[in-house]
Amino acid sequence: MNHIIQLRGISKSVKEPNGETRILFDDLDFSLSENERSIALLGRSGSGKSSLLRILAGLDIGYRGDYFYRDQLLPRTASAMAKHRLDHIGIVTQRYDLISDLNVVRNVKLALRGGASADEEAEKALSAVGLTGFGNKRVRRLSGGEAQRVAIARAIVKAPELLLADEPTGALDEDTENEVLDLFTSLGDSGARLVVATHSTRVADSCDRRLLLEGNRLVEIP
Ligand SMILES: Nc1ncnc2c1ncn2[C@@H]1O[C@H](COP(=O)(O)OP(=O)(O)O)[C@@H](O)[C@H]1O
Ligand SMILES: [Mg+2]
Repeated sequence: MNHIIQLRGISKSVKEPNGETRILFDDLDFSLSENERSIALLGRSGSGKSSLLRILAGLDIGYRGDYFYRDQLLPRTASAMAKHRLDHIGIVTQRYDLISDLNVVRNVKLALRGGASADEEAEKALSAVGLTGFGNKRVRRLSGGEAQRVAIARAIVKAPELLLADEPTGALDEDTENEVLDLFTSLGDSGARLVVATHSTRVADSCDRRLLLEGNRLVEIP
């Protein structure tokens, strides 16, 4: 089977605030194959969902194990991982990581490498998340749900092959969550893959596969 992503034998420990070392992942495997569109990552708070997404995004290279993208082993260097992320990945982080003093459209354009059509692309992404007309608003004046949708717009604006989303509907009401789910479905229709950490049963049920982080590894949930 051809894989888009494969993590093999991932091990990682973290230092707890009290100074103790805790094993987070122990020989963990993860894969997303060519014929899959979406995977939900489930697990209790603190089980490592955000940490796993950071590894997938190339934001964390402090682990043991191998990361293959389209069957190529990625060199585990900051520069190779940054290139991988720029080329292939859009990420919605749990805390959004927006720049609060910039307006909405400039935040979305942070994901683009300039270009004549950047404004147009940003507007298109904002309209996809239901934020037409919000471009000139300052991020710090937005509600939590609006800020979350700006973060989603920024993640999708360059039409990434892989969208990583960390509890992307946590701040959204049910109707807005449905809109985001529809958006993920249409991104999937155009070929994007989604890995989403979520506590939402509806988001999890909408995915092709569900994986639970438990006991330092991933367990398949039927
Ligand atoms: N960079 C880091 N340094 C130290 N500890 C970390 C770091 N990242 C995560 N952790 C710890 O790893 C554990 C898992 O965190 P996280 O991945 O955020 O879990 P989840 O997203 O499932 O709630 C937590 O105990 C957290 O304190
Ligand atoms: Mg988390």
